Amino acid sequence: LHKVIYDTDPGVDDAMAFVLETLHPEIELIGVTSVFGNATIDTTTRNACYLAGRFAPAVPVARGAGAPLEGEAPTPLAAIHGDDGLGNIGPSEDGTVSPDARAASRFIIDSVRAHPSEVTIVAVGPLTNLALALAEDPSIVPLVKQVIVMGGAFGIGGVNGNVTPAAEANMFGDPHAADLVFGAAWPLTIVGLDVTHRVVMSTSYLASIRDRGGVAGRFVWDVSRHYEAFHRDTENIEGIYVHDASAVAYLLAPQLFTVRKGPVRVLTEGIAAGQTIQKPEGMPCAAPAWDARPSCNVCVGVDADGVLALYERAL
Ligand code: BDR
Ligand code: CA
Repeated sequence: LHKVIYDTDPGVDDAMAFVLETLHPEIELIGVTSVFGNATIDTTTRNACYLAGRFAPAVPVARGAGAPLEGEAPTPLAAIHGDDGLGNIGPSEDGTVSPDARAASRFIIDSVRAHPSEVTIVAVGPLTNLALALAEDPSIVPLVKQVIVMGGAFGIGGVNGNVTPAAEANMFGDPHAADLVFGAAWPLTIVGLDVTHRVVMSTSYLASIRDRGGVAGRFVWDVSRHYEAFHRDTENIEGIYVHDASAVAYLLAPQLFTVRKGPVRVLTEGIAAGQTIQKPEGMPCAAPAWDARPSCNVCVGVDADGVLALYERAL
């Protein structure tokens, strides 16, 4: 059983990944931490509470950062995720679940300390909460089982970014935090945009989930209508990219992915801020920027059908 803290900015695809986490028998969700990103921190926290209320009422939600370590939060991605961050389904605040008294970073530290070597952090938004937890208590690093990040891009298939030509949204949201998180010596795997672009749920796949997946399947359909229209109109694809649920799939079935090892840096300034660059292990390097950095696993290949089948089975 994987004990999971889900660090998230819900977010349509975040919500779809959340449903997988709550339904899969091999995951024990021990907490949800919110962060700004797809929407403001007020909205993503409200959405996290709404999702927990509907699908996992006993799971605590802790409110996280509203802005990156440096500078301002980027503009919410309403064109992609809707004005409410959840595809304009109109999530209500019925008060069933209200946020924990602790900030997300403190919640992460307490949970890791309570379950040494057992907790996996699945982080699918800007990495500010993880960077704050690291700063507040660096001694958690060896106590974390693993960190799985959806973010960044490494050029496979020519995909380098979605919010700028060089940067993926979660990295662009807080590049300083990402560079700190990738520099900590915990086992860490990155499922980047260039990989998640290969995992596409078609309209007919989503319709099948709707028809056969009960309440959760109906929810996945409803929450993805606006998101699917964005993909059709702007990305010119029929169906939707499966970003955040692919990170959950890596936890459950790492054999569906191929990884490359090596330290990763994130550009923090300039026109390419948020760009992720890995130095593959063993590659000679003239610049010192990658020296003394821990190796990360970067996914470079995925069995997309395997990920889709895993999601469908869980639903
Ligand atoms: C990532 O950014 C967000 O918009 C999605 O939820 C996903 O985590 C994709 O770039
Ligand atoms: Ca996300």
